[in-house]
Amino acid sequence: VTEPDLKGRHVVVSAGGTREPLDPVRFLGNRSSGKQGYALARTAAARGARVTLVSANTGLPEPAGVDVVPVGTAVQLREAILKAASDADVVVMAAAVADFRPATYAAGKIKKKDGEDPEPIVLVRNPDILAEISTDRARPGQVIVGFAAETDDVLANGRKKLERKGCDLLVVNEVGERKTFGSEENEAVVLGADGSETPVPHGPKEALAETVWDLVARRLG
Ligand code: C5P
Repeated sequence: VTEPDLKGRHVVVSAGGTREPLDPVRFLGNRSSGKQGYALARTAAARGARVTLVSANTGLPEPAGVDVVPVGTAVQLREAILKAASDADVVVMAAAVADFRPATYAAGKIKKKDGEDPEPIVLVRNPDILAEISTDRARPGQVIVGFAAETDDVLANGRKKLERKGCDLLVVNEVGERKTFGSEENEAVVLGADGSETPVPHGPKEALAETVWDLVARRLG
């Protein structure tokens, strides 16, 4: 049974993984499938929300009744999020945003030269979108949710990250070679800025999404 408890709310979700181009044919990317973000978008729409889904390189079919904004890079994702967040009640950053991007973009394909070593790739920092929107809230009472993939000391690192970013909820999951990325399932703990800790047992990404919306709806009041 789906309660329309997000009716009248504008919910913004980012999904997928950014790609940071080196030249017209190459990029630095990550293994995020976008499935968790899409599950969040679908379930929010089912609970009555108006949903903007900022989608980075997923190749997944567009969920019905959701406004999809396609983006490629972290800088583009930031622009799309800032625009959509201006009138949003909730922002969920489920996308894997590259922390760094190549310092330069080669307008032509980078070529190998006989007998020469390759040029090193110099990286510069990308903006931290989650920290930015949490610090400069577009609206009072806006609920902001982040995701964190940790490989060790999951809870302690998650708690530190929640504080550093300044968001209201942080969904922390343990990742490894065969865990989470591209899979249909997830297992996580949702940490709250109020000190709360909500474990979500191993299960479909929809189930984790519903738990996130339960916690968000409570905070929206
Ligand atoms: O710092 P870390 O990348 O582990 O944080 C993950 C969370 O921060 C995710 O919610 C991700 O969408 C967000 N993020 C961001 N901008 C970045 C890097 C991560 O908004 N440049």
